[in-house]
Amino acid sequence: MKPDDLHDRARAPGPSDEFLHDVVEGLSRAQKTLPCRYFYDARGSELFEEITALPEYYPTRVEAAILRDCAPQIAARTAPGSVLVEFGSGSSTKTELLLSQMRDLAAYVAIDVSSSALEDARKRLRDRCPGLRVDTVVGDFWSAQIAPDLANAPRVGFFPGSTIGNLEPADAQALLQRFASMLGERARLIIGVDVMKPASILIPAYDDAQGVTAAFNLNLLTRGNRELGADFDVGAFRHVAIWNEAKTRIEMRLVSLREQIVHVGGRAFPFAVGETIHTENSHKWPAEIFDRIVERAGWRVAAQWTDPDQLFRVLELRALA
Ligand code: AVJ
Repeated sequence: MKPDDLHDRARAPGPSDEFLHDVVEGLSRAQKTLPCRYFYDARGSELFEEITALPEYYPTRVEAAILRDCAPQIAARTAPGSVLVEFGSGSSTKTELLLSQMRDLAAYVAIDVSSSALEDARKRLRDRCPGLRVDTVVGDFWSAQIAPDLANAPRVGFFPGSTIGNLEPADAQALLQRFASMLGERARLIIGVDVMKPASILIPAYDDAQGVTAAFNLNLLTRGNRELGADFDVGAFRHVAIWNEAKTRIEMRLVSLREQIVHVGGRAFPFAVGETIHTENSHKWPAEIFDRIVERAGWRVAAQWTDPDQLFRVLELRALA
């Protein structure tokens, strides 16, 4: 090993360096922001699981019902020997709805940043889907690699949960392009995406009566205090969910309840009363707007399924080229 490599390794940024960098950068902006991917520490993942069971939070329940109904059709449209690749697989619970119908898969490739979630999923699938090859890849969607021996198998991507909705349209397009290049020729992508609907349904879904979503949002500050030694006064911020009509998205914010100064990474960040930290966007694109993003990214909508109230859509995309 060359001395330069050693030097680089010693200096390689760890996960908490990246968190610190992103927090300092986000709080330095005129509109303060914190990236939503940091919601999912152990406590945050637990709170998110609770959110998915809330009466107000329809997406998980409705998507699972759609997948249960359309899984046989998706399976029938899948060539034997295909590889199912899931981006951000987490606990792989929704995947089971597909896997139970897909008989002759060469492998299921689960990609997630959490190695513990991947190991739990692997153990559960060993019992539920005996004989299925499960490859786990710890990493983000941008850097993940699929095993070389699967290079020639047709690939079906799976990206449920309307996670795509967290991204601005240009970033959503870039991610779908990335999936296309990763999945290769003849690729298909099964994607779950939320749909625009009245604010009277959307606001409670992101600001529930039990305050679970509020706890989920505020946990970001608790995480900053614990992992970065920040001094957020968690009780001096309040969760809000706002419907941004022009951008057709729910925005989650944390509102400062008083004038205060927060310290992190040796820097001081002053807050005015009512000033917000923007923590998440959850886009609810009208169907035709999302379909346009899809087409610009090199895919076409080959099939789609929805629920009787048309609250949510599951799409099968096919690579254009
Ligand atoms: C997991 C990103 C799809 O945006 O609905 C739930 C996250 N945030 N409640 C969403 C979330 C607040 C969720 N996604």
